Order: sequence, then structure tokens, then C-alpha cells
Amino acid sequence: MEVLCFGVEPPGLGPPHRAVGLIFSMLLGVWSAQALEMSVGKIPFLEAVNGSTVMLPCTYSSCIGIKNLYFNWQFNDNGTMQKVCESTIASEEVEPNVNVLRERVEFVGKNHHNNISILLWNITFEDGGQYTCFGRNPKEKDKNHSAIFTLIVVDELRVVDNTLTIMIASAVGGAIALLMGFMLLKNFTLFVISKLEEKNKECLVTSSGIDNTENGLSGSKADSKPTPKKK
Ligand SMILES: *[C@@H]1O[C@H](CO)[C@@H](O)[C@H](O)[C@H]1NC(C)=O
Ligand SMILES: *[C@@H]1O[C@H](CO)[C@@H](O)[C@H](O)[C@H]1NC(C)=O
Ligand SMILES: *[C@@H]1O[C@H](CO)[C@@H](O)[C@H](O)[C@H]1NC(C)=O
Ligand SMILES: *[C@@H]1O[C@H](CO)[C@@H](O)[C@H](O)[C@H]1NC(C)=O
Ligand SMILES: *[C@@H]1O[C@H](CO)[C@@H](O)[C@H](O)[C@H]1NC(C)=O
Repeated sequence: MEVLCFGVEPPGLGPPHRAVGLIFSMLLGVWSAQALEMSVGKIPFLEAVNGSTVMLPCTYSSCIGIKNLYFNWQFNDNGTMQKVCESTIASEEVEPNVNVLRERVEFVGKNHHNNISILLWNITFEDGGQYTCFGRNPKEKDKNHSAIFTLIVVDELRVVDNTLTIMIASAVGGAIALLMGFMLLKNFTLFVISKLEEKNKECLVTSSGIDNTENGLSGSKADSKPTPKKK
């Protein structure tokens, strides 16, 4: 999302401009409430195989700049929020000392371009769940901001299995095979159409430029495809 920033109020508003000034201040109030923003990217979840190493992405953005920004990552363990790591960032582009409170966690964002992503090494099934990227900027009255990223740990990445389809088709014979071929073609066409629509939609969204396709390292993938309906 694009962050809307409003500059300083124009000086010397005359009486005729009072009303405009008032509306202006109201708008300013609404927008400044969103000054800090935490973002986990366009695709806020990741499906990864146990044993792989994944990145949990998060960046912050602020119109008014940061000073001593406090941030942490929290893991929602059956409703109990467990701190994964925390730190205070003195200012932009200064690498903070991060206090890591969970095993196999590495702070890789390094506050480089507001990046506070972490790496989770050798994930287990227990690592699956919701991770909250939390930030608080003293410059804006200590308001809390957060974004949630979901990690799904799977045994193996689901692959489209056509074996059964082929077996049935060859057993029952030509007519049914033809029918199924037609259905598959239809599904494929629907799939292509939905992909095209998705692509079109994506083009309309302005984004902060986080590309989730780079989240996974070994053996993981961000699964954004809607699975085509099986008829
Ligand atoms: C993932 O879990 C499965 C089932 O528990 C296990 O057989 C497999 O060895 C695990 N893989 C890794 C890389 O840990
Ligand atoms: C969380 O819930 C699951 C299933 O309800 C349970 O197996 C697990 O032990 C719980 N974990 C903790 C830390 O309480
Ligand atoms: C991850 O697993 C590999 C191989 O099992 C091991 O060499 C490495 O030390 C592990 N890394 C962490 C951070 O636990
Ligand atoms: C954040 O840093 C990590 C590690 O350097 C990198 O892989 C990732 O692409 C960065 N994310 C953004 C949004 O710059
Ligand atoms: C902000 O988060 C802190 C915990 O980090 C909590 O104690 C505080 O009540 C929250 N403030 C608001 C306004 O939600």
C-alpha cells in the first residue's frame, strides 16, 4: 500500500480559508493515524516443508520518520503470544542489536531499507502458525501497529496428482476418457482464465514492492494459486 503523506500545513490561512483549514486538519488527523505501517507483503502466508528454512518478511514505513522504533515478532502459540525477537531501532538504516528469544531464529532484515524480516531455520511442525510483526514509534504517541504472517508447515508440497485420472480413464475406455479430457480441458481453460483475471487484478494494486516469491529458501513456496475446482 502506498502511504499517504501530508506535508506541513500552508502558513497564513486567512479567514476565508478557515473552513478549508479545518477540513485539512481533520484529514491530516486521519492520515497521521496511519503514519507507521507494518507490512508482511502481498501474500501474507507461506507453505513450507518441515525441515526447510523460511523467511518471515516484514517491513515498516513511516511518513514522519522513526526514532527509537520498538519492534518485535510474536508467535501465537494456542492464544499465548510468545516473543520471538525484539529490538529498538535508533533510526533508519542503523542496524539494531536484536534480542532473539526463540531457537533457530535469525534477524536477516538488518533494518536495511526498513527490512525487519527474520529467518526461521529447519522448521518443525510446531513452528506452523501465526507470526505477528509488531511496531511502535515513539514519534507518534506510541501507537501500536502490526501485521500477521501465517506459516503453514506441510509434510511435502502438494503436487497435482493425475495418476488416478489416467488409471480410471484407461480402465473405463474411450468414451469416458474423451469426456474426462473435455472436463480437464474445461478446468484448464477456467484455470487459465482465473489466472489471467488474477494477473489483471494484481496490476491494479499498488504495492510497497515486497515480492513474496522470494520468501522461501529451500523447498518452500508461496502458494497463491486458487486450486481449480474439480468437477
Ligand atoms: C518431515 O516430516 C516427515 C513426517 O513426520 C518425516 O518423515 C520427514 O523426515 C520430515 N522431513 C524433514 C526434512 O525433517
Ligand atoms: C496447542 O494445541 C494443540 C492442539 O490443540 C496441542 O496439541 C498443543 O500441545 C498445544 N500447545 C501448547 C503449547 O499448549
Ligand atoms: C539446520 O539443520 C542443519 C542440518 O540438519 C544443521 O547443520 C544446522 O546447524 C541447523 N541450523 C540451525 C540454526 O539449527
Ligand atoms: C529483506 O531482507 C532479506 C534478507 O536480506 C531479503 O531476502 C528480503 O528480500 C528483504 N525484503 C525486502 C522487502 O527488501
Ligand atoms: C500496545 O501494545 C502494548 C504491548 O506491547 C500494550 O501493553 C498496550 O496496551 C498497547 N496499546 C494499545 C493502545 O493498544
